[in-house]
Amino acid sequence: MELDYVFWELERSRQERISELVELLSIESVSTAPEKREEVRKAGLWLSEKLARMGFEVGLLETPGHPVLLASHCKRKGKPTVLIYGHFDVQPTDPEEEWVSPPFVPQVRDGCVYARGASDDKGQLLTHVHAVEAILKRSGELPLNVKFLLEGEEEIGSPSLPTLLEERKGDLAADCVVISDGCQFRSGIPAITYGLRGLAYVEIEVEGPKLDLHSGSYGGLVENPINALCSMLARLKTPEGKVAIPGFYDDVIPLEPWERQEIKELPFDEEGVKEYLGVEWLVGESEFTPLERRWARPTLDVNGIWGGFSGKGAKTVIPARAGAKVSMRLVPRQVPSRVCALLEAYLQEMKPRGVRIKVRAINGADPVIIDRKLPQIQAAFKAIERGFGRPPVFIREGGSIPVVNMLKNYLGIEAILLLGWGSPEDGAHSPNERFSLEDFHRGTKTSVALLYELAR
Ligand code: BES
Ligand code: MN
Ligand code: MN
Repeated sequence: MELDYVFWELERSRQERISELVELLSIESVSTAPEKREEVRKAGLWLSEKLARMGFEVGLLETPGHPVLLASHCKRKGKPTVLIYGHFDVQPTDPEEEWVSPPFVPQVRDGCVYARGASDDKGQLLTHVHAVEAILKRSGELPLNVKFLLEGEEEIGSPSLPTLLEERKGDLAADCVVISDGCQFRSGIPAITYGLRGLAYVEIEVEGPKLDLHSGSYGGLVENPINALCSMLARLKTPEGKVAIPGFYDDVIPLEPWERQEIKELPFDEEGVKEYLGVEWLVGESEFTPLERRWARPTLDVNGIWGGFSGKGAKTVIPARAGAKVSMRLVPRQVPSRVCALLEAYLQEMKPRGVRIKVRAINGADPVIIDRKLPQIQAAFKAIERGFGRPPVFIREGGSIPVVNMLKNYLGIEAILLLGWGSPEDGAHSPNERFSLEDFHRGTKTSVALLYELAR
């Protein structure tokens, strides 16, 4: 059967494909760092050239931010069209000294490739490119029409995509979308993801006196912006793990009994997770299980905080300003802009006298639920059985992928397959990010099987 020839091709080309992964991972495409602008473009170019060599019609489109790659191979009239999305930008690499091998000098050890972007998302997106390449090599044609939408701004919230999707609606039309930018339930237990949390990310700035002051001369007379900020941040959550912003939970859709039952039946290894994290206790709302808290309950975290003096030694100073970055993870039907407004109102209300505050929304993403009854979900189910040798489980995820709702809203596509090949222990956004080569290979195999299933 045709499929087996393609699988042989994948076996034959294992080493070449790993070398290509290493090449792509060597590019320092950190989208949030202005000084890495050219590197992000380089990753886009690398993929453009690869897809062009495979016979795709390719365009690397300029945006006000980083470029977006559109590619298409549409030669099967009457067959469905699949749009494959991925992102070639990556998160920053700090703290640098924690990496065993440097983040952009990919190293293969104990069956994994270690580098920033290995799992999130260069390794995963490349599985689909390689799947298409292997099919073309073995059979000379694809079983359906394939388009790629690969971007360099996912990790900063995909700010250029809405305009681009609107302008290129026609070029991007598709029956279904495939995204591999997440995880299996755990390594060896593949999953179909039917829900993602949304995100509202804000920066809070607190301004006090107009200049830094001697903390002896003026201490006790002026409000200290760091003290003010910390006392406000401390009141954003309750000791029971609830977000304390008035109105925060108003739009939250409660979990249904069937879903709670299904989540309970997943083989969640709480002890294993605690060990991986190096913590002795998992926190959060006690009336929900850890998986429910991670996937289907909203939350709030301070991501960073600054102000005053934090160098070596001591400096007695009351700083003029302080700030913090805060992320809120959202669930259906919370709306990022509304949640930001609630946060700002709450901060203004509890702000002590003698300081001013500014709240700035940095980026966001809507929460997602995918209809599991869509026929393409069945195709994905069969393909995963084939590629991983066992059926997938259905999961939600705690992370966010901004493009998902944009595809629904701008292109009207409902069938979005979220098929993560990574593992929750890949260390995405952490030091020593990695991707298991076994997952790389079975992800590629699944992608091949999926393209044939979707063509039926
Ligand atoms: N691939 C992740 C999202 C993800 C994480 C999906 C875990 C499934 C499981 C993506 O690259 C990401 O990190 N997204 C950002 C969103 C953004 C707007 C900066 C996130 O979730 O923080
Ligand atoms: Mn990602
Ligand atoms: Mn990410």
